[in-house]
Amino acid sequence: MSESFTIDTATISLISPNISSNQVTQSTPMKLGILASGNGSNFEAIAQAIEDGYLNAQIQVLIYNNPAAKAPLRAANRGVEAVLLNHRKYNSREAFDEQIVRTLRDNDVEWVIMAGWMRLVTPVLIDAFPNRIINIHPSLLPSFKGINAIEQALQAGVKITGCTVHLVCLEVDSGPILIQAAIPVLPGDTPETLHARIQVQEHRILPQAIALAAQRQ
Ligand code: GAR
Repeated sequence: MSESFTIDTATISLISPNISSNQVTQSTPMKLGILASGNGSNFEAIAQAIEDGYLNAQIQVLIYNNPAAKAPLRAANRGVEAVLLNHRKYNSREAFDEQIVRTLRDNDVEWVIMAGWMRLVTPVLIDAFPNRIINIHPSLLPSFKGINAIEQALQAGVKITGCTVHLVCLEVDSGPILIQAAIPVLPGDTPETLHARIQVQEHRILPQAIALAAQRQ
């Protein structure tokens, strides 16, 4: 007799390093400033991890650059101040980053989290928060840097992809890796189906990586 198995494909993953998801070790709350360009589901995951007591942090401010972004609605629901800085209104990337730094400093931010931030950053931002800027990217870096990482992975025909949380340096999608999750590419995957499974893991590893970054300091 044949048995049938159902596999919850949303949760198939390998996360490394394997740190406990309910570990809170830092004694003083990390003061986070979150940068987001779009939907803000990673913002939400951070806020939820804080609420659930898995991450000892407080979100000082959300900065978003796209007036159509959904992230500020999520911030409003959570009582977090959201500031729109529209990059189109600045003459240079540096001038834009200067305003970001001012806003972060005005809000007493210590750690900057790029949670779906679709802008290239300059030394203005990087030098203002040395080793304290964290990014999440939807691939197993160093593969598939830059935009359309998920489409790049599908195009390349890889059988395993994933997501990476890393410290930010000037070179795009580079810098020391904090946590990665590996996720299988399934037959028939589209950018949307694969992204949905990647996001399940992003929401697990981003709060963990933020805690890990504080421990490593
Ligand atoms: C996430 O999948 C994140 O990895 C990606 O944008 C998405 C934002 O989702 N970031 C990048 O591609 C950065 N290069 P969210 O707005 O729902 O958090």
